[in-house]
Formats: sequence, structure tokens, C-alpha cells
Amino acid sequence: MRILIIGSGGREHALAWKLAQSPGVTEMFCAPGNPGIASLATCLPIGASDTVELADFAEKMKVDLTVVGPELPLTLGLADELAKRQLPVFGPNKLAAELEGSKVFSKSFMKKYGIPTADAEVCVTRKEAESALRKIGIPCVFKVDGLASGKGVVVVQSAEEAERALKLFFDERLFGSAGDRVLVEQFIAGEEISFMVLCDGERAIPLATAKDFKRVFDGDRGPNTGGMGSHSPSVHLDAPTSRDVLTDIVHPTLRGMAAEGRPFRGVLFVGLMLERGVNPYVLEYNVRFGDPETQSVLIRMEDDLLPYLVGAARGAFDPELRPVWKKEAGACLVLTAEGYPGPFEKGRPITGVEEAEADEGVFVFHSGTARGPEGKLVTSGGRVLGVCARAKGLSTAIRKAKNAAAKISFEGKHHRTDIGSRAMELLLERTGSGLS
Ligand code: GLY
Repeated sequence: MRILIIGSGGREHALAWKLAQSPGVTEMFCAPGNPGIASLATCLPIGASDTVELADFAEKMKVDLTVVGPELPLTLGLADELAKRQLPVFGPNKLAAELEGSKVFSKSFMKKYGIPTADAEVCVTRKEAESALRKIGIPCVFKVDGLASGKGVVVVQSAEEAERALKLFFDERLFGSAGDRVLVEQFIAGEEISFMVLCDGERAIPLATAKDFKRVFDGDRGPNTGGMGSHSPSVHLDAPTSRDVLTDIVHPTLRGMAAEGRPFRGVLFVGLMLERGVNPYVLEYNVRFGDPETQSVLIRMEDDLLPYLVGAARGAFDPELRPVWKKEAGACLVLTAEGYPGPFEKGRPITGVEEAEADEGVFVFHSGTARGPEGKLVTSGGRVLGVCARAKGLSTAIRKAKNAAAKISFEGKHHRTDIGSRAMELLLERTGSGLS
């Protein structure tokens, strides 16, 4: 099969890496791709959101399956454009992608179908938000309705922070039209979990659980980012709670979306808050693979990913499909540019990637990299590289990823040093050893 992958991040590099191992894949393209993906696929000078150009290419090259990485092309209708031309696509259509594209839609959808989620008020003006604040109380969460690259969510813990959020969201309108409507939402304390399921419109096949780390600094401090690291399994979610998530959240979501005339095909990524370790609430839906959760999950996947993506695109999984996961754990450390998630410089030379990858069980996925003068690897984005490792226990996987990350250099390199430490504490409590 000829595959076209859309996107340019670590998630798309991990998808390309996994699909390159599939006996069913004969040729791969990626638009626009990155230097890491270029070793596995032909990268195309087409932007990930140029929906008509992408569909033109897929049609001309008789692409058998387009796999869409990021949310923006999905919310812009890339799947619809491809479907119009009878071209198979992995990813939801525009109507179904609204689950991520509009937090106001997803909140009212959850309320309608009885899916557990925090109460929220929809606010258009500062005055409405002030009144919602009085009603919901502090702590609470401000969320913009539209897409904001994971940065449109602010947790408010004090009156000063509330004033700052009101200023940011309403006076300065930091998020532009994505912030035309803002949710002021009840705060739920607990552990955040990423729960991803592959969907064919009716059936859901869960992927291995994962946890990501959104804040830029250790100890969950500093602003939110796209994701600073991940590990799989999540450790926090036990098997009975996973079953509850499927019964109380995933299946009602799929049934509800079908009833709304928006059947969901692709990967549904449910951002969960696990209150007191057992009560799962939906924080948000995403309509695509998580980044960097996908990196930690796919390095653990034993079987071929392609039949799952084809089944979802076709709207009917092969009933025999049951993913098999390696018994090893996966971890991913994201190396970021100085200043990220604020402004950062590009073009800083990167060294040591090959040395890092030479370690057994280490995989380096490119994200914000480019080829500079003389073809040398340089930084070109905020999240530069995802250094991933697979090993028998989570502690070993994390140590391996850290050792590999230490071999990579670029000016201003930053990464969190506490990825997985909460999970290690939990494992220690449960087993007396951090090695399981
Ligand atoms: N890691 C969070 C996300 O992909 O949205």
C-alpha cells in the first residue's frame, strides 16, 4: 500500500517508523515531514493544512491510505476532501473533529450523553466570565473554545490568577478567534491520563495507556506546552478503571456521535482526570494521536499497525484484531528549545543524535528539526526531539532515555528530569520496588 502521512512532528515520525515495519506498506510519503521522517518516507513540500493540495497529491499518486497526524487539517475538513474523491483516510471528518475543534461543542455533547465531565459556563464577555467565576469558584479552569496548540487552558488557583486570566482571555484576547468563547470550568484534582482508542465508527480498540507531562518545568511548574514527555503504561489506571472508561465514556461517546450524525473514525484520545485514583472525568477530547504519548505507546506495540488504521478508515475493523503489547515499558523525554513555550531561536546546530540512537532500545523521533547549511541538523521548533526508550521496567526505560538524551547537544537544550517519578513512587508503594 502507498501511505501518505500528514504532519511534521515526533508523533508523525513514530507513525512512519511503525508503518515502515509493516509488510503491507510499499511506499510512504509525508507532508511536510521532517529530517527524521525523511529517512523513512519521501517528504513533500505541502503544508499539513493545505487540504486541497494534499488531496490532489493523494489522488494523483493513487495513495491507498492517508494518515492524518495533527488536529488542524481534520477540523479544516481534510478527511471530507479525501472522502469526496473516494480516497481512504484515517482520521475523522470535519463534523466529528469538532469534538476537539470546539470545547463548547464537546462540553454540551458530554452533558447531553451523560459522560462524566466537570461543570462549566460558556462566556463571551469578561462580565460573563466574572459571574461564572463567582458561581464556579476558585480553583477553576479557563479554556478557550477553539484550537490553541495545547496552550489555551489556564488553571486559576487564586484571585490574582483569576484577574490575570480575565485580562489574558478577554482584555488582551491572547488566543484570537479561538477565544471568542471561553469555558470557565470547575477544577477537578487528580491524576491526568491519556486514553487513546482506535475507532471504526462503532467499535473501539484501546491502545496501551499513557501519561504525558504538559508543564514545561519539573514538579509540574511553568506554562503548559504541547507535551514534555510521556510514559506507557500510565501506571495510574488499573484494569477495572480502564473498563469503566470504556463503558462510561468511550462507548457512550461513540454512540452519541453516531446518533448526532457524526460517526467517529480514527483515534479518539480522551484526556482524563482520575479523581482520587478511581473516578474518571473527561477533561477534553482530542481527535488524533497524542504527542508525545504516541511515541511511548508505538514503541511497545508488538503487532502491525496498518490493519488497525485500514479498518478504521474503512469503517469496519477486522473482528480478529486485538493489539499485543510488549511487556516492556516505554518512555519519552522531549528536548525543547530555550524559551519554549514562549519565543525561541531556530537554527542551532544539533549533535549526538546518532550516538543516542546507537543505544539498544533507544529511538529518537524528530519534531522541530531541519537541515541547515551543508545538510547539518539544526533546531527549527520548540519541541526539538523526542528521546524514547523501551526497557523491562519503567525506571530502566526512563534511565535509558535520560542517558541517551545526555548524548544530544544543542545550545539551550532543556528537558524535564522528573518524567515518570510520580509513577515510580506509586510502583514503590505497590510493590516495594520501582522496577515493575
Ligand atoms: N500530549 C497532549 C496532546 O497531544 O494533546
